[in-house]
Amino acid sequence: MAKIITYINEKGGVGKTSVCFNSAWYLAENGERVLMIDMDGQKANLTFFAGIDQYDNLKTMVHVLKHDGDITETVLEVTANLDIVPATAEVSSIGMESKVSKFRKALKSLDDFYDYIFIDVSPTPNWSHYLSLSVSDFAVVVMLPDLASLEGNKGVFETVEEITETTNPNLKIAGILMNKAVSRTVLAKQVLEMAEEMAQENNTRVFDTKIRNAVVLSENISNNEGVTSYSPKSPASDDVRDFVKELEKAVAE
Ligand SMILES: Nc1ncnc2c1ncn2[C@@H]1O[C@H](COP(=O)(O)OP(=O)(O)O)[C@@H](O)[C@H]1O
Ligand SMILES: [Mg+2]
Repeated sequence: MAKIITYINEKGGVGKTSVCFNSAWYLAENGERVLMIDMDGQKANLTFFAGIDQYDNLKTMVHVLKHDGDITETVLEVTANLDIVPATAEVSSIGMESKVSKFRKALKSLDDFYDYIFIDVSPTPNWSHYLSLSVSDFAVVVMLPDLASLEGNKGVFETVEEITETTNPNLKIAGILMNKAVSRTVLAKQVLEMAEEMAQENNTRVFDTKIRNAVVLSENISNNEGVTSYSPKSPASDDVRDFVKELEKAVAE
């Protein structure tokens, strides 16, 4: 059965899309079958990172959620074991007329084909957040060591609580991932402490692995390649591999 995981924060530029892409890539390298779904119509960065041409007449989740289309018609291959449902601007139009049940049914039909389904969302809390969390087994909250990300986390935890009480009682937060981590500054230490408190209050934890700030993590995406194959020996690749190992454990429980 595919594990469905949404990467989320109500703040942009924290690395949701990069972490989603690099983790999916590494799992696929290891022989896991992974599908990424781009639900960010504002930017469609995941689609861009994967090297898919935006103007190539793409079918997106709009085909499934608004036009009752077959999800298999939207799936494109990225590498062996790694596929994507791309996004274009039209994905921003997904609204309340799109029902959770339809999304759930579409993913259910892919259950035998994938080990992991990763969903990337926009920073702005919108209907896509609600839909994505409603169909997910887990959320991974990605944050930077700053106060704005903490605020973004708060919004996510409120949304998650609402969703567990309504559409998806099974939703769990796999953990909070600190990205572009620095450990030296007073602020970074305090933000980490506050994130740990927040995690505890919400029955989750901050992942032991932190992803460092590394140039290679902006270079790999312009090469449309996960960091673990773009620069396998880089310390940033170690971070991604360590994070994925932790994630696999967290979602296996
Ligand atoms: N750990 C990191 N070190 C350096 N650059 C990073 C790191 N994580 C993300 N980036 C860069 O930061 C930018 C924003 O990341 P992105 O994943 O698009 O964030 P989000 O999806 O949260 O908006 C991208 O250009 C990405 O390459
Ligand atoms: Mg993004």
